Amino acid sequence: VRAPAARVGDAVAAIDTPALVVDLDAMERNLERMAEFARTHRMRLRPHAKMHKSAAIAKLQMAAGAVGVCVQKTSEAEVLASLGVNDIYISNEVVDPAKLARVAALAQRVRLAIAVDSALGVQRLASALAQAGSSMDVFVEVDVGHGRCGVAAAAAGMLAQQVVAHGRSDGGMRFAGLQAYQGRAQHLRGPDERDAAIRHAVALVRAAQAAVTAAGIACPLVTGAGTGTFVHEAASGVYGELQVGSYLFMDRDYADNQPDDSALRFEQALFVKSQVMSRGHSHAVVDAGHKSHAVDSGMPAVRGQALDLLGCSDEHGILRARAGATLPALGDTVWLVPGHCDPTVNLHDHYIAVRGGLDEGRVEAVWAVDARGCVS
Ligand SMILES: Cc1ncc(COP(=O)(O)O)c(C=O)c1O
Repeated sequence: VRAPAARVGDAVAAIDTPALVVDLDAMERNLERMAEFARTHRMRLRPHAKMHKSAAIAKLQMAAGAVGVCVQKTSEAEVLASLGVNDIYISNEVVDPAKLARVAALAQRVRLAIAVDSALGVQRLASALAQAGSSMDVFVEVDVGHGRCGVAAAAAGMLAQQVVAHGRSDGGMRFAGLQAYQGRAQHLRGPDERDAAIRHAVALVRAAQAAVTAAGIACPLVTGAGTGTFVHEAASGVYGELQVGSYLFMDRDYADNQPDDSALRFEQALFVKSQVMSRGHSHAVVDAGHKSHAVDSGMPAVRGQALDLLGCSDEHGILRARAGATLPALGDTVWLVPGHCDPTVNLHDHYIAVRGGLDEGRVEAVWAVDARGCVS
């Protein structure tokens, strides 16, 4: 078994590299800011645990007022449930019968919900629930502009009817409302663009609600929203639950968004600690490459230094200094701000959680990335 990069009580300087490090003070401020936002807007908060994949963090979010967490995958739900997270929403479609049998089995142990966007998916879920004798909440997903999963708004009524009909005949399904996440809007850089995208999404949600009502069915809840747009979903008055994920850690890509007018700002709380392992005249090489941080949303930024990470290979990152800046020396620590938090977390076994800042702090906790690799 591989030991974590540090032990509780270690100074930051003693954390081995590369390591996934959480600035606990910043994370807790982010946690409380979002919890407070949900409270003051009288919305349910169900943060997305696909981002952190950690039962310890999910429990902190629930202790701060979250009703439960979202996940995307059956195996993520299983791992978090086995570690005591008792209210989980799979905000995603599952159509494979073998997986649905696992979903139905899990629904006997925890409060579970799932999204659907096809008649076949509803039918297969109904069979799995009937076979297991379990029941769960079901959300009909509407495509609100993302172009990923979800039915057209006008078709939401028909699918809701199928859920309700199966609920009546087999007893396993409760129609819980609409899943309406606009992922593409999250990283539109300008606040006006994000606002316009969510106005469009809200119009589609209203159309879907009308289709459900016309089918004679009440729509208890609309759930969705991400870190880039949740102020707009909240302002719409249509959404009742927020699924934000990245707000807790943030990343370089979210930092590149121009902020909106809301006073809400989230701080960078997730870093990869690296160190210079080789030094040329015009570049330095750190010991963190593609196996330490994901670059699907671009290169990491460097915290507090006028340095750019120009490129990576599997185990190396190449640093250049900006005009007037000096390169770090051999052995120096370089703190990388990941381009995209979710896939970066999935590369690591542990979080090293530091209290008191990245310069003078000490390790307060070591958490496992419990659902690391849970992609099924
Ligand atoms: C369905 C769903 N809900 C919520 C989120 C959370 O978004 P963010 O991490 O941008 O807050 C995601 C992220 O991809 C998602 O896919």
